[in-house]
Amino acid sequence: MLFLPAAHLTAAGLAANNRPMQRIFSGIQPSGIPTLGNYLGAIRNWVALQDDHDCIWCVVDLHAITQFQEPALLATATREMAATLIACGIDPVRHVLFLQSRVRAHTQLAWIFNCVARLGWLNRMTQFKDKAGENTENVSAGLYVYPNLMAADIHAYHATRVPVGDDQKQHLELANDIAQKFNHDFGVEFFPRIEPLILGPAARVMSLRDGSRKMSKSDASDQSRINLNDDADTISLKIRRAKTDPQPLPSEAEGLVGRPEARNLVGIYAALSDTDHAGVLRQFGGQGFGAFKQALADLVVAKLAPIAAETTRLLADPASLDAILHRGTERAAAIADPIVAEAERLVGFLSP
Ligand code: TYM
Repeated sequence: MLFLPAAHLTAAGLAANNRPMQRIFSGIQPSGIPTLGNYLGAIRNWVALQDDHDCIWCVVDLHAITQFQEPALLATATREMAATLIACGIDPVRHVLFLQSRVRAHTQLAWIFNCVARLGWLNRMTQFKDKAGENTENVSAGLYVYPNLMAADIHAYHATRVPVGDDQKQHLELANDIAQKFNHDFGVEFFPRIEPLILGPAARVMSLRDGSRKMSKSDASDQSRINLNDDADTISLKIRRAKTDPQPLPSEAEGLVGRPEARNLVGIYAALSDTDHAGVLRQFGGQGFGAFKQALADLVVAKLAPIAAETTRLLADPASLDAILHRGTERAAAIADPIVAEAERLVGFLSP
């Protein structure tokens, strides 16, 4: 059995109970402006987890290019994503914030995982089916092996906890299957099991136009989502126009069953006011959507305006931002390189 050497712990070190902190890894694609879905399903939870975990946060530009990105726009979106994460409270000093494509260990391990994962496993991935639609012959091969790269992201750091939105759950199950098969094939206990952390009442924020689709930064309709850089008027208008049904809000959470749009807006309110669906319905149950939407818009604006202002401030100094990412990349590589080198040795590759 191989144990994780202490040198693989980052500076964060020990948790309050004096045990080594568990390592977290999570990532976000720079494929557009992050949305309220990204914020509530992931980023907000990441910020809270920083107090008692050793965290590695990654802007996953390799994943973004599984669907074509204009090069100049990708570069801009990558900086904007990093700035937004910091503005939301990601701490690039106590923890690690970096760009996936700059740490070669990700693609090195992903190739090994391409050879471990079975086609049958990938064929079951619902996100591939959603993204490819009818078009399976004409999407990139990268989109198909996307979950293998995601597994490599996590396992290259021997991370054990992965906070994500609900849509990533199946990918994390696959990451565990890959690790288990690697360990079995090579007769080792090298890659640990990972635990998905899917947290809060808004782990799946839905489109404002269609309660059956998730809110996405790459959706063709800007009206379907709230972007973290939307101004107050835009946010209010999008929420006012959000699809709802003609019934008043129910007084109990069970009354949201079969009402996806109402459930979605109540979930957003609950997450932003640190309560649950029942707590929101105690306040707004029996009322029509008019008053509730106004209160929701005010709450969203109050929470997002400081983030947008801080993002703008950070983007005004791209050199400082690039320096933060450069330092993060060095620290990430220092952790991942020896782990991936060991995986390569286990596979049987000679060291040069
Ligand atoms: P991405 O960029 O699509 O989304 C980043 C995070 O936001 C969450 N999320 C949502 N949560 C709630 N409601 C929504 N509508 C919503 N939309 C997105 C996602 O679940 C995710 O946590 N494959 C990942 C990126 C990735 C990754 C990794 C994550 C690459 N490597 C390794 C964890 C570990 C993705 O596409 O994220």
